[in-house]
Amino acid sequence: MAKVNEYFKKLPGSYLFADIAKKTAAYAAEHPDAKLIKMGIGDVTRPLAPAVIEAMHKAVDDMSKVETFHGYGPEQGYDFLRQAIVDHDYKARGVDLDIDEVFVSDGAKSDTGNIGDILSVDNKVAVCDPVYPVYVDTNVMAGRAGEYDPKTQRWSNIYYMPTTAENNFNPDLPTEPVDVIYLCSPNNPTGTTLDREQLTKWVNYANEHDAIIMFDAAYECFIQDPDQPHSIFEIPGAKTCAIEFRSFSKKAGFTGARCGYTVIPKDLVRDGQSLNAMWLRRQTTKFNGASYIIERGAEAVYTPEGNKQIEETLDYYRHNARVIKEGLESVGFDVYGAVSSPYIWCKTPNGMGSWDFFDLLLRQANIITTPGAGFGPSGEGYIRITAFGDADATEEAVERIKKMQF
Ligand code: MLT
Repeated sequence: MAKVNEYFKKLPGSYLFADIAKKTAAYAAEHPDAKLIKMGIGDVTRPLAPAVIEAMHKAVDDMSKVETFHGYGPEQGYDFLRQAIVDHDYKARGVDLDIDEVFVSDGAKSDTGNIGDILSVDNKVAVCDPVYPVYVDTNVMAGRAGEYDPKTQRWSNIYYMPTTAENNFNPDLPTEPVDVIYLCSPNNPTGTTLDREQLTKWVNYANEHDAIIMFDAAYECFIQDPDQPHSIFEIPGAKTCAIEFRSFSKKAGFTGARCGYTVIPKDLVRDGQSLNAMWLRRQTTKFNGASYIIERGAEAVYTPEGNKQIEETLDYYRHNARVIKEGLESVGFDVYGAVSSPYIWCKTPNGMGSWDFFDLLLRQANIITTPGAGFGPSGEGYIRITAFGDADATEEAVERIKKMQF
């Protein structure tokens, strides 16, 4: 008899955002006249930049002629895009990378989930708490998480690093040995960032303990402070201990188009194995590359015109984030993030549970948010609000919240 992956049985019934979508759909079905405002999943709403669209149209035309048609592309991405990434995202910030250290993919979610393929099941994994659920759920699927304890809402073999207002969203170094550390800055869900000194602490720890840092920089384009690192590779020593994940989703509106990339330095070696060579082997076996049309679109993000256009869109979202932060603060909420991030991490009023506050906002204000508890036990007592919506709807949502009585 065929046996299934037994670890799936241990997972929660559905993925966090699928769960919220289900609850919201049920509410909308019961209240067809409700004017719902979506501030839950971090999905962009502004169209792709004209320069990106133009490049994609041209790429479609390429596909229509024998001379310029593209079949299977390189699994690790076309050189034109990898070179643009190396030049603009790294060289321009003082980081030298070889294009063979860049692997283009269909997004950071896939890569942060799939990277576990090249890791032993025996690794001890450390995550921030609250955390982007993909890191935990994919380690559960791989059998690395141990048993779930509903009382503590933790997995026995995962090391949780509380990342809360109490420690200024700067998690402490582990007090027991860990092998793989997931860090996300600007952080999803708290919207806070790790500065150069804080990242240096992690790089030194990882090198001293032969650990690997999985650094998710999907939101780096929102960083405002010019001194803040956008890449972990801006930190000396990171090339021997870190893998970095980047995405065009939030930076350039590719949530529907799908494109991202992962950087694995050739200097990253564990157990005598090059992680770069292992990932290449994994990708060439399981992945046929992102599409030519999409990669041409992503390349256009780096043209002067494309860059200007995507910055205008990012400013639109930055404005929304400011409106939410200032509006909520004006009525006494404790609010974090929002400055170098599209996420606003808001403390619930009067110690209310985060799912209760989620329900209250849905029922009384018809606003969809994400309950902090969905990101881990230390997210209890918070909700996450996204700034990716329409600007008028965002203002309307803030006005609705201001009128609520708590
Ligand atoms: C989120 O809302 O946390 C993100 O949109 C999820 C993702 O990027 O996969």
